[in-house]
Amino acid sequence: MDAVVYVSNAGHTGKYAELLAKKLSVPLYPPDEAKGKIKKNSEIIFMGWVRKGKITGYKKAAKRYRIKAVIAVGMGIEGEAVEEGLKIKNHVKEPLFYLQGGMNQSLLKGRDAMIIKQYKNTMVPRLEEAAKAMELDEAKRNMLKMLKDGGNAVTVDRLQRIMEFLRK
Ligand SMILES: Cc1cc2nc3c(=O)[nH]c(=O)nc-3n(C[C@H](O)[C@H](O)[C@H](O)COP(=O)(O)O)c2cc1C
Repeated sequence: MDAVVYVSNAGHTGKYAELLAKKLSVPLYPPDEAKGKIKKNSEIIFMGWVRKGKITGYKKAAKRYRIKAVIAVGMGIEGEAVEEGLKIKNHVKEPLFYLQGGMNQSLLKGRDAMIIKQYKNTMVPRLEEAAKAMELDEAKRNMLKMLKDGGNAVTVDRLQRIMEFLRK
């Protein structure tokens, strides 16, 4: 494994990348920097934040590197269903893991800020209804809180599954 290459907007993917790179004792680079530091076809782990279902930066990275695993970071619920959906939508052939990152609206600009505002307006009332009926699991409660107040779900523990996969 040569490096962790990551694309982050508000910093959550960057934090996961930092934690993972440390565990694996490999360097970490955003794509522009990686170009000058590691060769084409290097073996990497790619991490990108999810924007409207797209894993930012994945397509370019897949053309340049041998990707051992893709880690997509979003604000949603972790699980196989979301991972399958992301694999299909992004044409990912490599193993894919989805991690819950976070939301900090004050760091979002322009179109991104607008999209989240609209999403918040539709989703918060729905999630609040479900919360009243005690129908929300931990990840969804986390997402509701994230949308309302912002939040950060990044913990080193969430990398456990990925570490197990990489040890195999
Ligand atoms: C414009 C926009 C669209 C987003 N779309 C999705 C999405 O489709 N699925 C998802 O799980 N998270 C989505 N998110 C949430 C981000 O992926 C989440 O906040 C993530 O932690 C951002 O990572 P970063 O802090 O490294 O930029 C979206 C966020 C923004 C700002």
